[in-house]
Amino acid sequence: MSQIPPHELTRLEAIADDTAELEQLVARRLDGEPLQYIEGSAAFGPLDLLVDERVLVPRPETEGLYEIASKMVRNPEVIVDLCTGSGALALALKREFPTAAVFATDISEDAIEVATENKYRNRLDIYLAVGDLFDPLPASLLGEVDLLVVNPPYIAENEYDSLPEDVKREPKVATIAGPTGLEVIQAIGASVSRWMRPGGVVVCEIGETQGTSAAGSFLDLPTVVRKDLADRDRYIVAVKP
Ligand SMILES: C[S@@+](CC[C@H](N)C(=O)[O-])C[C@H]1O[C@@H](n2cnc3c(N)ncnc32)[C@H](O)[C@@H]1O
Repeated sequence: MSQIPPHELTRLEAIADDTAELEQLVARRLDGEPLQYIEGSAAFGPLDLLVDERVLVPRPETEGLYEIASKMVRNPEVIVDLCTGSGALALALKREFPTAAVFATDISEDAIEVATENKYRNRLDIYLAVGDLFDPLPASLLGEVDLLVVNPPYIAENEYDSLPEDVKREPKVATIAGPTGLEVIQAIGASVSRWMRPGGVVVCEIGETQGTSAAGSFLDLPTVVRKDLADRDRYIVAVKP
């Protein structure tokens, strides 16, 4: 980045105490630090979330996932958010469905620390646990999940070098899935069905070129690919028969 866009400069001006501090903040942004890390927070729907170098900055596309998911269920009792990061999806869904039990997991201890801070910051009671995908979920949830949402890492290793500098500042575990980019989606697709209640809904964010391959990764469930506002393939939606 060689210049700060005016709307970003306005946001930095709002948090700087004086000109010297503003110059420091501008230098950090020009060096590639995400704007939300500098601000220390990010909006996600109605929520204000702590974000820093331990977690991905929640994206508008993921708010799109939240919109789709929350419209597809009525009075869910059990909600799961895999790969929760800052806790954005889990906390937004708890706010939307206060009586639901919400379980969120992440392989990164750092991410679960941030999600825990966000749980207290937003006064929302969700269950958070560290571990690989479904591993930390209580076995009692098998066959009981009404809604499962996930924004997994889905970028291939060989695409890393060409990512924008601010994306490279985010945790690599949050963006890079493995050699093909599909590894985490495939692991989810292979075992999600047994966690779902009949009629339960799965919504998974994907990369825009992954529609066909990601849909085929959901082995036991019928799937459809949904697009984002820019008409790009962005979500796999599956409903357990
Ligand atoms: C793309 S970020 C999504 C974060 C958050 N859900 C959001 O939408 O802003 C992916 C998250 O998945 C986590 N992750 C990566 N591999 C995982 C795995 N095998 N099991 C659980 N979490 C994983 C990363 O630590 C990261 O927090």
